[in-house]
Amino acid sequence: MAETKSPIVDIHTHVYPPSYIALLKSRSSIPYIRSFPPSSSLRLVILPAEDTESTSRGRPVGSEYYDIKKKIEFMDTHSIDISVISLANPWLDWVPADEAAKAAEEINDEVNEECGKFPGRLFAFATLPLSGGKDVIVKEIARLKQLKYMRGIILGTTGLGKGLDDPELLPIFQALQDAKLPIFLHPHYGLPSSVWGERANDYGHVLPLALGFPLETTIAVTRMILSGVFETVPDLQMILAHSGGTLPFLAGRIESCIEHDAHLKSEGKLGKGRKTVWDVLKKNIYLDAVVYSEVGLKAAIQASGEDRVMFGTDHPFFPPLEEEDGKWASVETNYEAIKGALGGGSKEERAALGGNAVRVLNLNSK
Ligand code: URA
Ligand code: ZN
Repeated sequence: MAETKSPIVDIHTHVYPPSYIALLKSRSSIPYIRSFPPSSSLRLVILPAEDTESTSRGRPVGSEYYDIKKKIEFMDTHSIDISVISLANPWLDWVPADEAAKAAEEINDEVNEECGKFPGRLFAFATLPLSGGKDVIVKEIARLKQLKYMRGIILGTTGLGKGLDDPELLPIFQALQDAKLPIFLHPHYGLPSSVWGERANDYGHVLPLALGFPLETTIAVTRMILSGVFETVPDLQMILAHSGGTLPFLAGRIESCIEHDAHLKSEGKLGKGRKTVWDVLKKNIYLDAVVYSEVGLKAAIQASGEDRVMFGTDHPFFPPLEEEDGKWASVETNYEAIKGALGGGSKEERAALGGNAVRVLNLNSK
């Protein structure tokens, strides 16, 4: 029987819409964009760990960060049919409270309009006005349902400032569950710079990106599990960046530590009705496949299931270091990992490449 072609969907791909770029250019503390004389080329500085006097200060920023036509070109080069774009970190986390509502409305409208320029090829995760407080956030969630191309929201790990185990976030999680908008959880803050040691500046961005990002995600989700978010809001859906950080690999250890914790037992938190880490991984969590190796991807697949992993690229981050027109090694490595873990041409491979995203994010209706 002839195979119907299933689309390739990139669920981890970022933009900074032009209005956000303009905001970054007007700032001098992170996040900001500026040149560092004698060079006149612009650099994007977003991570605390990269705001240092060194050649690794930020990254060059070109039109691939904000021009939607460049996104489509990148998709065409890499055989990607559909992208679910999201504002890149640090989103609107840093916006003053009284400006948050308007900033989120404008950014979300702008991103939705960009998607409308390429119907069927672009969908988006929206951005929440986190600094605006609960009522403003819940209002924006309600408004998102009217934006045609929005399929979820992107969220960092700080929440309202106290992390994602903050009880004040429960009404927001509830509103997202009710609106059937999944959370795309993405790291930004990493770990305190002290853990990278005195020679950190010698190592470029490797430690914060390779280790800080995944551990940040792992810690944030573990705190959510420990605080009981997934029992209180049982149908909350989350897509975790970078295959869940290290969550699939550490799930057994986290679960064992919970089961052996006398404090949790004395507080009555180990009784019936508790969702185990494995339950959460299989019922509430989806994992992107941005892990760059078969080993990590197999752990993700075993932890959450082959029907819960989704291809991603992290474009426009991780471009080839030498100027090239062709395919990006960072993307090809993720394609290879999916093929290796699930078998080239298999239905499981097609699901990870796009079928799962189409089903979970309802990408058939445009
Ligand atoms: N990928 C991202 O999404 N953000 C960064 O800051 C770096 C890599
Ligand atoms: Zn990313």
